[in-house]
Amino acid sequence: MEAVILAAGKSTRMKSKTSKIFHNICGKPIIFYIVKALEKYKVHIVSNKEIQNTLKKMFPKTQIHIQEEQKGTADALSKAINHINSDAFAVVNGDMPLIDSNDFETGFNLLKANRLDCLILTTVLENPYGYGRIVKDESGLQIVEEKDANDIIKKIKEVNSGIYIFDTKAALKALPKIEKNKKTGEYYLTDIVKFLNKVETLKIKPENMLGVNNRRQLSEARKIIQQRIIDNFENVTFVDPDNTYINYDVEINEDTIIYPNVHLRGKTRIGRECVIENGNIIENSIIRDNVHIKPYCVIEESIICDNCEIGPFAHLRPMSELKSCVRIGNFVETKKVKIGKRTKASHLTYLGDAVIGEDVNVGCGTITCNYDGYQKNETIIGDRVFIGSDVQLVAPVKVGDDTMIAAGTTVTKDVEPYALAISRVPQTNKEGWTKKYRDTMEKRTKEKKKT
Ligand code: UD1
Ligand code: CA
Repeated sequence: MEAVILAAGKSTRMKSKTSKIFHNICGKPIIFYIVKALEKYKVHIVSNKEIQNTLKKMFPKTQIHIQEEQKGTADALSKAINHINSDAFAVVNGDMPLIDSNDFETGFNLLKANRLDCLILTTVLENPYGYGRIVKDESGLQIVEEKDANDIIKKIKEVNSGIYIFDTKAALKALPKIEKNKKTGEYYLTDIVKFLNKVETLKIKPENMLGVNNRRQLSEARKIIQQRIIDNFENVTFVDPDNTYINYDVEINEDTIIYPNVHLRGKTRIGRECVIENGNIIENSIIRDNVHIKPYCVIEESIICDNCEIGPFAHLRPMSELKSCVRIGNFVETKKVKIGKRTKASHLTYLGDAVIGEDVNVGCGTITCNYDGYQKNETIIGDRVFIGSDVQLVAPVKVGDDTMIAAGTTVTKDVEPYALAISRVPQTNKEGWTKKYRDTMEKRTKEKKKT
């Protein structure tokens, strides 16, 4: 069996530079969900010239056919129909990301069993506005578009879903007979039923046929796809599934708890028994087991091993690699850094272009000065190093195992193992200085007021 996706339209109602089929839902373009639902079939896509290359790259297994001018859905099908080699084929609009592969299977079976020319998948909508209405009377079945409907027809609630199953021979004969619509000048695929004999309808769930014609419908489709993705994780707790944003390719394992407003993007993988608290944004990262991420962290292209504790308010930029039991606290930024087991950077720190050993304590306010205006330089810190607060490590620099760096030190030279590095201006205390200063200042202020 084969399937044709009609995707050459201009998407005017989306008011976008991007064709609607490429608008993103949960990390994938709309068209992805349609091709995915049809993966059992040989898929043809009718495309316009502008988007054909993108489609070819995205779906190398599909056959792309070009409709140069957008002359309607019947004209679009005419570009693909001669390439169909099966007895039957399906047609689906390219803007329906919620289609269910089971509906196609049922459709193909019914077409064969009842020897139909065409099966139209329909649904009943409380508000059928905008959809083609299914009109059934003595003369048979007709589909009337909103633009062409009179008041009586507009009240009909059974609508055309935009999915059709055809007998190939019957469709080949009928398609060229379709005439231009007088009002719009387009060739409507829906008019094909006038030239077919045995046409029946099959009702499907309204949810499965939502068409994305505008931004409102895009957000409705997103909600439903998001629900479907979340429902697949049967062993994960979502505290508030309606306010959680999990992309299509994300993996989450047993007994992890996801709090509200978490965004998991790209190919992110979360292990078992993790707790991901509110507002975290995690992109293309691997989080191993039993990791606790406190609220409002941004984690990008990073790897976090077992039992780490991150946040709140931490920013792990690309290539941050944390071994197990690492603690990264509030207002810590990391970038291209390897951090050894049990090392802690609990507050207000920037660690970039660095390799840091095991059991290191990184004091509050520590900064790797990795950039000299021309290039990035590396800081290497050994195991069991104690870095006091407010230390600057001016890279390139190496700090050996078992060293201590005194608070306030600017490290510009390598430090040998077991050494203490300290760079401080000696402190002097000037007795009574503050009192004298205040007296002078107050006297001056009074004199100014007088004048
Ligand atoms: C279409 C149906 C309508 C149905 C609705 C369901 C027609 C005439 N009407 O209306 O009965 O209720 O879908 O969602 O078919 N396209 C082309 N080339 C063209 C024109 C359109 O490839 O020249 C493609 C579009 O990219 C789109 C699909 O065909 O993916 C349907 O076109 P669209 O304009 O969205 O049709 P609707 O007005 O939604
Ligand atoms: Ca549509």
